[in-house]
Amino acid sequence: MGKTLQKIKVSKVNEMPKKLGKTVTIGSHEIALFHLANGEFRAIENRCPHKGGVLVEGIVSGDHVFCPMHDWKISVKNGEVQKPDNGCVKTFNVEIEDGNVYIVL
Ligand code: FES
Repeated sequence: MGKTLQKIKVSKVNEMPKKLGKTVTIGSHEIALFHLANGEFRAIENRCPHKGGVLVEGIVSGDHVFCPMHDWKISVKNGEVQKPDNGCVKTFNVEIEDGNVYIVL
């Protein structure tokens, strides 16, 4: 038997402007939740693998966020740092239901 999934309501769709992020803390996880220009929501760990920049404060462009500290480009879809830099951040599943945004852990 797998672990029971936790589904936590973190926002309403219409409370989050597009291309902006919101910090969500769930237990020991600090998560950057982004509303992308195409309407999708994505959630990644809110800490840059370089020197701990706060990713929710970064600029969102397409499927990527640019770290506010030294401009590393990180995919909000799979958490991968784009070349020439290397690294990865954890990603979290997001579900939308009845106009609400949930993170599934
Ligand atoms: S801390 Fe993110 S690029 Fe340096």
